[in-house]
Amino acid sequence: MSVKPQIQIFKSQASMITGFINLWQDVAREALIHTGRFTIAVSGGKTPIPYFKGLADKIPATIWQNTHLFLVDERHVPFTDPDSNYGMIQKNLLDRLEMSESNLHPIPYEKTAELSAKAYEAGLKQFFGNASLPEFDFIMLGLGTDGHTASLFPKNPALKEMMKWTASAEQTDVPHRRITLTYPVLNAAKNVVFVVEGEEKSQRIKDIVSDRKKAYPATQIQTTTGKLIWMLDDQAASLLSK
Ligand code: 6PG
Repeated sequence: MSVKPQIQIFKSQASMITGFINLWQDVAREALIHTGRFTIAVSGGKTPIPYFKGLADKIPATIWQNTHLFLVDERHVPFTDPDSNYGMIQKNLLDRLEMSESNLHPIPYEKTAELSAKAYEAGLKQFFGNASLPEFDFIMLGLGTDGHTASLFPKNPALKEMMKWTASAEQTDVPHRRITLTYPVLNAAKNVVFVVEGEEKSQRIKDIVSDRKKAYPATQIQTTTGKLIWMLDDQAASLLSK
């Protein structure tokens, strides 16, 4: 049984960033009241960049001090590599605020992507205390034009991983091996928020959000009990029936 997604459509990127920051803050405050910490996992790619800058400017230090930041996925490259998601997050978010190292949980760069995935899963299990599944307060996802999300690409074996919390993925049409959170972890989160912009993604949004076509990895993001929110700009939502 999965939860019905909420669709939020915004006329401008500025209003979408404001909406995203407000949602982030609301979820953070709720988490801090109930557990004293706010656990998040964020995606890479280009869309999140202005959102990270907005978060750094607007979210108060009192929230960051109790935030634990994880990654949804990573390319198997050093953090200094221009393609590193963590490198992008450092540049656009972390370098703009104070967060203790112990609150930052990048995907470890090991000899192989498989070893990175194993090390990341060990770190997650240590942090979440060997729970049956980690229950993130907030997971930020993007969407590729091929319908991938995280590093869960069409036809990739990682789509079938239903036991491990992480997987490594080889994808011929992307330059690096990937490490990713798996469906069980993504679907266990309290809030899963897709942030999708642009006309080039409008057909995929129609396929996934309204037609629920199973051919696309993002269609299988179906929270078990948490909220699933699609934050779309006008262009990305242009094929959804009004
Ligand atoms: C990555 C991301 C990936 C991203 C989509 C959308 O590592 O690239 O985690 O899943 O969210 O590819 O990327 P854009 O936001 O750049 O369109």
